[in-house]
Amino acid sequence: MNIQKSKGLRGEVRIPGDKSISHRSVMLGALAKGVTKITNFLQGADCLSTMACFRRMGIEIENKPGEVLVHGQGLHGLSAPRDVLDVGNSGTTIRLLSGILAPQAFSSTLTGDASIQKRPMKRVMEPLGQMCAKIKSLPGNGCAPLLIDGTNLKGIHYQSPVASAQVKSCVLFAGMYADGPTSITEPALSRNHSELMLKHFGARLTSQETTVSIEPEPTLESREITVPGDISSAAYFIAAGLLVPHAEILIKNVGINPTRDGMLKVCRAMGAQIQYLNQREDSGEPTADLLVRSSALTGIVIEGDIIPTLIDELPMLAVMAAFAKGETVIRNAEELKVKESDRIALVTENLAAMGADVTATSDGMIIRGGPALSGARIRTCKDHRIAMSFAVAALAAEGTTVIEDADCVNISYPGFYEDLQKLSL
Ligand code: S3P
Repeated sequence: MNIQKSKGLRGEVRIPGDKSISHRSVMLGALAKGVTKITNFLQGADCLSTMACFRRMGIEIENKPGEVLVHGQGLHGLSAPRDVLDVGNSGTTIRLLSGILAPQAFSSTLTGDASIQKRPMKRVMEPLGQMCAKIKSLPGNGCAPLLIDGTNLKGIHYQSPVASAQVKSCVLFAGMYADGPTSITEPALSRNHSELMLKHFGARLTSQETTVSIEPEPTLESREITVPGDISSAAYFIAAGLLVPHAEILIKNVGINPTRDGMLKVCRAMGAQIQYLNQREDSGEPTADLLVRSSALTGIVIEGDIIPTLIDELPMLAVMAAFAKGETVIRNAEELKVKESDRIALVTENLAAMGADVTATSDGMIIRGGPALSGARIRTCKDHRIAMSFAVAALAAEGTTVIEDADCVNISYPGFYEDLQKLSL
């Protein structure tokens, strides 16, 4: 994919459904009694992997234009999959599903693509092991394929060493089947979509600061869910609107849950002009339309508890920092190394290829804004967020940028390039 410098951006874009919420709506819909109707479900490859896994376990899912119907069979209604469960590229699918599979009355094997087979699964194997689950990494290196022999689980209080919504959700989902209450405490609050949705479906759950507890054996009742637009997808249009001169973009239907909105806070602190319009709630999740105009940005320090609330937006923020005045320091973000790619290494490599002044650190990056960026060949390692972040960089850089494996955006945003193109002057 070749992308040229933009002459300006104008118009409206409607953001596809949130990836995290879409996954959870199928998972909890499958474990609830009755038909769960989901609107604005994200038709990205990751969420389709979740759907395929549940179909393999006997759940009927109708994927109709405009709505998804999940025919839930209750907490104990899954059946043994006839084949391996393939999660594709999706870390959320494999980690959350591990929590659901560990207590089942059957065995299952979870695997995924080359990237998934390199990502750490010990982070879920450890708490599940403490709950007495039988979960094994088949290659013996803490990575997928994972073999899970379903068994009875014990309720625990887990102190998670990492602020990860995937770990938290895995433990909470397993906790629904445990012999007593299950709690998890994380070092900083990660996205709370599982907590909100579990409550919405009728689970008994309490949250206090960074600890969540769930009571076992809830009766989950089917629900209607409207998935808000994904703030992680909106991030590319926010950045494009800010970086490209003569831009004014209305980004419709963006989820602004406070455990996900760190990017908006950082943008404001960098001097961005972003207006919130039409604020409302969809299925317990706050949403708004965002009006974004070209803005002069200044560098900032991004560190501490805000990191989990913008973790997926850091590649885009790093690109923005290269166009900002002054220095930006990103710290406490070592998790970037174990995402779909090593995002510290890859963002640094690609920014440097475009002429930016950037240094990788052990837990982040230092970016000194100033040098004008020019088009380059971008190595994505098939990481959707790298492709989209550098597609936006291309709009503000001189000349032509080539994005390798550009179709990896289908993981979270089918139609991304078309939506971007529609705004071009
Ligand atoms: C997600 C949690 C985050 C995020 C990922 C989606 C989720 O991962 O990066 O894209 O849906 O729970 P971690 O839990 O590993 O931080």
